[in-house]
Amino acid sequence: MRGIFGLLFTTLALGHVVPYGLDADNTPALLERQVQPVRLTSVKVAPIRTSEYPFASGECDNGQVVKLQAAIIEARELLSTAGDLLKNKGSQFTDTYEEWFGPDKTPCFTCSKVSESIRKHNFEAPHRDLGLPFERIGQTLSPNQLDPRALTFTCWPIGEDHCQARFIAGTINPGLHPGSGLDFAGTLIGLCPRFFDSPDLQTVIQQFQGSNQHQTENSAGLTLVHEMQHVLATTGTKRNCTDVIVGNAVAYDTERCRGLSNEDKIKNAQNMAFFALDVRANQGRG
Ligand SMILES: *[C@@H]1O[C@H](CO)[C@@H](O)[C@H](O)[C@H]1NC(C)=O
Ligand SMILES: [Zn+2]
Repeated sequence: MRGIFGLLFTTLALGHVVPYGLDADNTPALLERQVQPVRLTSVKVAPIRTSEYPFASGECDNGQVVKLQAAIIEARELLSTAGDLLKNKGSQFTDTYEEWFGPDKTPCFTCSKVSESIRKHNFEAPHRDLGLPFERIGQTLSPNQLDPRALTFTCWPIGEDHCQARFIAGTINPGLHPGSGLDFAGTLIGLCPRFFDSPDLQTVIQQFQGSNQHQTENSAGLTLVHEMQHVLATTGTKRNCTDVIVGNAVAYDTERCRGLSNEDKIKNAQNMAFFALDVRANQGRG
């Protein structure tokens, strides 16, 4: 469900915050510049103005802020465990890697560009950005008042359209949203009430290791790992992920994520989340 939402918002036209035009040159220096158009400097949680906007928000209450902070810690642990594993030489040839990302076709053993890029932009960058100074804003902001250098979280109320449609969370990148005509000055991650009712990581690991693996849910931390894959300011425009549609459903469960083409596997946000979960679930196994 969350997947559809992410898809909607990752296909938005980019606004003033993300520069265009660097795609022509593929020199490594430019590539690095290109993948970090705006370096985020903080994580914020703020109420976003509700009534006159379709992307209505409520204010996060104290309990929700505490849960969000715990989810951030959990997400960072998952991201660093996965990122660290990818530092190991040959990690791109493991079953876990191939299961979620397909075979790494980089032609030489020591220069795995694909897995290095995934490590940097899909695991290390989200780990870094989620660890930025956390600030709670009391003032209600309009989308055009979002801080371009912040990753802003907000708590959508149950009546919000997407929460009504049973989304868990959604990411909106900076820019003009053609549907609503609203200009988002910064990155917004909206959290629905369901996010705060997510099963804990231990439960999710048990589901993942059980006989109904395809029914594995996301813990709150895993949801953040997923959403961060849509955050352009974090992943850069080369490694941002979408939610790939298979038939008429989003590739969001283990079976669909495993069944994707190799090309889609490394573009699908939930494949990043499942890789992190898999690494974590099998950590002690040696
Ligand atoms: C990544 O972002 C760029 C720029 O918005 C977009 O054109 C591209 O489709 C996105 N890639 C994926 C896999 O979502
Ligand atoms: Zn998504």
